[in-house]
Amino acid sequence: MTTQRTAIVTGAARGIGAEVARRLAADGHAVAVLDLDEAACQKVVDEIVVAGGRALAVGADVSDEVAVEAAVSRVAAELGAPTILVNNAGIIRDNLLFKMTVSDWDAVMGVHLRGAFLMSREVQNYQTKEGWGRIVNLSSTSALGNRGQANYSAAKAGMQGLTKTLALELGRFGVTANAIAPGFIATDMTAATAERIGMSFDDFKAAMAKEIPVQRVGEPADIAHAVSFYASEGAGFVSGQVLYVAGGPKD
Ligand SMILES: NC(=O)c1ccc[n+]([C@@H]2O[C@H](COP(=O)([O-])OP(=O)(O)OC[C@H]3O[C@@H](n4cnc5c(N)ncnc54)[C@H](O)[C@@H]3O)[C@@H](O)[C@H]2O)c1
Repeated sequence: MTTQRTAIVTGAARGIGAEVARRLAADGHAVAVLDLDEAACQKVVDEIVVAGGRALAVGADVSDEVAVEAAVSRVAAELGAPTILVNNAGIIRDNLLFKMTVSDWDAVMGVHLRGAFLMSREVQNYQTKEGWGRIVNLSSTSALGNRGQANYSAAKAGMQGLTKTLALELGRFGVTANAIAPGFIATDMTAATAERIGMSFDDFKAAMAKEIPVQRVGEPADIAHAVSFYASEGAGFVSGQVLYVAGGPKD
């Protein structure tokens, strides 16, 4: 049986984060669905509640220190001490290096790295007090390098370093920290990439699937399954790891 915990999933109004929120709720946890716009979180909250779970919509920008403090306090007051944190919020601002602006660089670092740092620093207060916690950070196969993504690949490699350090510092308090590095997952983020390069999303997915050993693109549920494992009671001896969920290794 699952012990009911309180989870916070950032960037959970849509895509991977929404599916992770639904999955953690199905696993028996109360879930804070956090995203930039609180109203946009309500649909996911309603789905969780209709399915018999507990959830709360929380509007916050994860790169804003004051907003993060307020959001995490509100979750603790309304849902209970948060001990599961999924740092999933993300943006892309792709461009080749010579065309990349400082604001493209800063925006991506701000959401992924500063956001995961601020959220983790806030939530660890509750985790260390409870003597139990799970942090799951969304990295990416782009951490290995990806043309047009100097900002994003650096941020996603940074997420792996952050994860390992959190594992080292927080392990003695019963807190694990792990990362998931997805390959291509069909979401609004990858749909936007298809649009940017002038392809239909279906053609883009078909072309990507040919390059993936299992011959299909990923779905948000593929990532939610991995998050569910890391968040589980039984995964307490797994920490500081990076799980590539990408349908196979690259050639
Ligand atoms: N889709 C993929 O192929 C893929 C691959 C590897 C990694 N990832 C990572 O997985 C995560 C989720 O990706 P997705 O495809 O679901 O993206 P998405 O664009 O569909 O959803 C991201 C969500 O994050 C929210 N968000 C953005 N900035 C925020 C901020 N400052 N504060 C709070 N919320 C914010 C957005 O509003 C959005 O709802 C991201 O970290 C992404 O980098 C995705």
